[in-house]
Amino acid sequence: MKIGTPLSSSATKVMLLGCGELGKEVLIALQRLGVETIGVDRYPHAPGHQVAHRSYVIQMTDGEALREIIDREKPHFIVPEIEAIATKMLMEIEKEGNITVIPTAKAAFLTMNREEIRRLAAEELDLPTSRYIFADDLNELQTLVNRDIGFPCIIKPVMSSSGKGQSFIKSFDDIETAWHYAMDAGRVNCNKVIAESVIEFDYEITLLTVRAKESNGEIKTHFCEPIGHIQVSGDYVESWQPHPMTEKALEKAQHIAKTITNALGGQGIFGVELFIKGEEVYFSEVSPRPHDTGMVTMISQVQNEFELHARALLGLPVSTKLRRAGASAVIYGGMNEQGIAFENVEQALSIPETDLRLFGKPESFVKRRMGVALANGDNIEEARERAKHCANLVKPVK
Ligand SMILES: Nc1ncnc2c1ncn2[C@@H]1O[C@H](COP(=O)(O)OP(=O)(O)O)[C@@H](O)[C@H]1O
Ligand SMILES: [Mg+2]
Repeated sequence: MKIGTPLSSSATKVMLLGCGELGKEVLIALQRLGVETIGVDRYPHAPGHQVAHRSYVIQMTDGEALREIIDREKPHFIVPEIEAIATKMLMEIEKEGNITVIPTAKAAFLTMNREEIRRLAAEELDLPTSRYIFADDLNELQTLVNRDIGFPCIIKPVMSSSGKGQSFIKSFDDIETAWHYAMDAGRVNCNKVIAESVIEFDYEITLLTVRAKESNGEIKTHFCEPIGHIQVSGDYVESWQPHPMTEKALEKAQHIAKTITNALGGQGIFGVELFIKGEEVYFSEVSPRPHDTGMVTMISQVQNEFELHARALLGLPVSTKLRRAGASAVIYGGMNEQGIAFENVEQALSIPETDLRLFGKPESFVKRRMGVALANGDNIEEARERAKHCANLVKPVK
């Protein structure tokens, strides 16, 4: 692999589609390797825009707008950071053969829609999942939930992320509200939902899985240590690594992760979300990119998930080695306000073995993730206590 000089004719150019906190870290990892970076997002001064060589503000679901900046910039690699992208345009661009989409345009296409990825996992690859049905009107939803799923169950728009539009419902009477809630929150032009049976899991994990090139040119699958996490209303609030697992459950988890990432193909990191009950492991969903719960790896691993993604996409060797037990705790904005500040940062960072990422988002919402506290400890319990303590001490103010 040859890497050129940024801002010269030899530059190796990567375009990030999505410049949130995860994209920002991928951009930083790429910059450190001397890559020229282009950041794209739907609003100005997004976290990643603040570190990229050049920035664009467009609606990434608009295929024409996307095509225009790709033609202008001619990147070597396109790296989607979010789900809501004109993935059909990415498939066309990939087919033309000059640009590599990470990990593949098909992976971006399949994972932006719960129906595509669920049918692939459960029906083609035969991986264990919750029971599920899809419906595109209320009547059908009521009939199928009653007949095939039962209660309680979870209803989600097929195109949504971070828990948006999801309802946990307990009875038939709740279906109508859940349907309308899903329709209001889902992405435009998609009037479809999935209803899933509830898996009463003991715990859930993200298994970060990296497909990277060996020196002999073959792709090898590498696994990070399992990341445990807690979700509140479908949004992650805390994560830690390594989450203890029995040998058998870990083996099943790695088998599922290898199977699904192999089907999606390409090079890069994937966040495979799994539910574990006893020794049973269920596939939930997969991100063909770094995962929010994986931010813990910025403190727990030798190469964090962003560095792993950068290295894997460039065709460089990777190591998924754990450095020390770690944890992350989310810092929410707590208010709807532009240009907020964070007080008490010095007190927060006086907690031993902690670090902070303040993402620099121009606008705060009550439930918008504005930063994350990171901590190490002798074990995950100590790391979690420290990360939560650190996060709680940071005070967003007007
Ligand atoms: N079938 C299910 N059984 C139990 N819990 C679930 C199920 N589906 C989702 N959840 C819970 O909701 C969270 C968010 O769901 P997920 O499908 O990952 O949505 P998103 O794409 O918004 O992250 C999961 O991490 C899990 O905690
Ligand atoms: Mg999820």
